[in-house]
Amino acid sequence: MKFKNLQNVNVKGKIILLRTDYNVPLKDGKIADDFKIRASLKTIKFLMKEKCRIVIASHLGRPLGLDNDLRMRPIAERLAKLLKKKVQYAKEYIGPSVKTKIHKLKPGEILMLENLRFYREEEENDKRFAKKLASLCNIFVQDAFAVCHRKHASVVGVPKYVKSIAGFLVEEEVKELSKLLKPKKPYVVLLGGAKIGTKLKFIKEMLKKADKLLIAGAMAFTFLKAKKIPVGKSLVNEKFLKEAKKLVSNKKIILPVDFLEGVDINAESAESVDVVKKGMGLDVGRKTIDLFEKELKKAKSVFWNGPLGCVENKIFAKGTIETAKFLAKMKGLRIAGGGDTAAVIDKLDLRKKFTFVSTGGGASLEFLVSDLPGLKALEENMKKFKGNK
Ligand code: 3PG
Repeated sequence: MKFKNLQNVNVKGKIILLRTDYNVPLKDGKIADDFKIRASLKTIKFLMKEKCRIVIASHLGRPLGLDNDLRMRPIAERLAKLLKKKVQYAKEYIGPSVKTKIHKLKPGEILMLENLRFYREEEENDKRFAKKLASLCNIFVQDAFAVCHRKHASVVGVPKYVKSIAGFLVEEEVKELSKLLKPKKPYVVLLGGAKIGTKLKFIKEMLKKADKLLIAGAMAFTFLKAKKIPVGKSLVNEKFLKEAKKLVSNKKIILPVDFLEGVDINAESAESVDVVKKGMGLDVGRKTIDLFEKELKKAKSVFWNGPLGCVENKIFAKGTIETAKFLAKMKGLRIAGGGDTAAVIDKLDLRKKFTFVSTGGGASLEFLVSDLPGLKALEENMKKFKGNK
């Protein structure tokens, strides 16, 4: 995929609309992990050095209209702290007052816009909304890799109307994740997390590309049920049961063989079981950890997305923590992705031991099996807005 980046376009002194993905996990209104904010610093510092006026736009969460709990102010404050520089915050919606604020920006100054998803038009990829966003800047810099799989206005709309280039994070993500497009074999994919719906397409593709597919996390229970293995009250997505039945006989798929069972996700104790009968399976057990390690050990390339258990409750975080530590000690290509996975890796301070940790959850999965709309939009923009200025 070809697109322009910060190195081959003159951005000096320009008004930049910078799309970042600051969709960070929040706990009691506070930022629980600022990995995505830190990942955006390289591009921002470069733009500051180039004396750009920087207008940052991001989404946060999945609000249905204005939601005071999902305002960008705490993000702007954290960014200011990390940059040791004031970050202005445009609390109001896009409109004349925001334009005035932008025009008052001095070279190198930063203005953070309000949560893009407060506007319905963002997710609907509304043309007028995209045009309005594009009209705020001279150049659009796409650095929100984690949302590049969405056909939203600030992802695919804006590049239709203004010169658009990739930021350093998008470049790095593409470079690192591309290593998995032709991985050294054996190639093992480890999938966890709860949402099976968003991962089915990926699983089907990976059954063609990978040598083994280890499936854990809550989504494993839909596959176990498809195999007629009792799952108690564990999370099962009935809607995908039929699809899971078709896939589960594939020998490449390896499912958990034992579990930590609890009454619910807030359980204060856990029982080790081979089959979940009464309660919920909330983490994998020792035998599964060993089984997965045996497969991972053989791999020359590993992609990991999603926790193996309910990591929010530390009683059920063991499977994920042990696996992260195991992968950290391995050799070969090891790429992890997804918010919860990255948070565990960071908590254990293991980031540097992985080849790469992607900021993208859904986006990294999508990148490995198809073209990302956000990157395609940059490619098309390059053809439309020729020249270097
Ligand atoms: C993410 O966190 O994966 C991205 O920000 C995309 O968020 P979404 O799944 O709400 O579109």
